[in-house]
Amino acid sequence: MSLDVVTEPDLHNELVLDKEAAAALFLEARTANNWATGEIADETLQAVYALTRMGPTAMNIQPLRIAWVRSPEARERLAVHMNDGNRAKTLTAPMVAVLSYTTEWHELLPTTAPHMSKMVPSFESNPDVRKLMAVNNAHLQAGYFIMAARAAGLAAGPMTGFDAAGVDNEFNADSPSTSFMVVNLGRPSDVVDRARLPRLEFDAANVTL
Ligand SMILES: Cc1cc2nc3c(=O)[nH]c(=O)nc-3n(C[C@H](O)[C@H](O)[C@H](O)COP(=O)(O)O)c2cc1C
Repeated sequence: MSLDVVTEPDLHNELVLDKEAAAALFLEARTANNWATGEIADETLQAVYALTRMGPTAMNIQPLRIAWVRSPEARERLAVHMNDGNRAKTLTAPMVAVLSYTTEWHELLPTTAPHMSKMVPSFESNPDVRKLMAVNNAHLQAGYFIMAARAAGLAAGPMTGFDAAGVDNEFNADSPSTSFMVVNLGRPSDVVDRARLPRLEFDAANVTL
């Protein structure tokens, strides 16, 4: 296995993005454990959300909910629920986002999908379907979120190594939201702390029928 998409001669001929954008979003962007110093402005967070929300979800349900954890006090409350290997970087990242899904997305259907409003009672009585759709579509939105952060010039460090029940107790009490991912964010650092792991070749992960 190799990872030579960066130098793949024909790749850039197939893209509508310029090389710089393809590098920033996909080819050179790395999952981050270190960041340059400097605060992340509220305007940057709003830009990340403005891009994230445009990614498609089933029926446009948009179940992702984001808690931006900026203050040292809130950061400490989050860090105690992170796995040991994730705690230090969650304390030191310039910004941290707790991503949750809401199972009550159906209540907003009159706004998000007015043509589906008549379905609200049937979703109300079907919590299992609501949860499945919430989990699947919030994870899709988490992918958009990571790419949106990169598009806004940030490096993201997504993590699922944390005690979700503990985080929900701290940040989602009395809400229908459940945490599923924590993402550290900051301006990219020059520190490369590990080599890129291999990606699967086309033939290992694709079939053309
Ligand atoms: C859903 C998800 C959960 C992850 N959980 C953790 C984690 O708990 N701790 C950690 O150090 N890295 C975690 N990672 C980081 C991955 O190992 C990393 O994104 C992957 O190896 C690709 O690294 P690269 O972008 O530098 O190529 C997670 C990544 C994703 C997308």
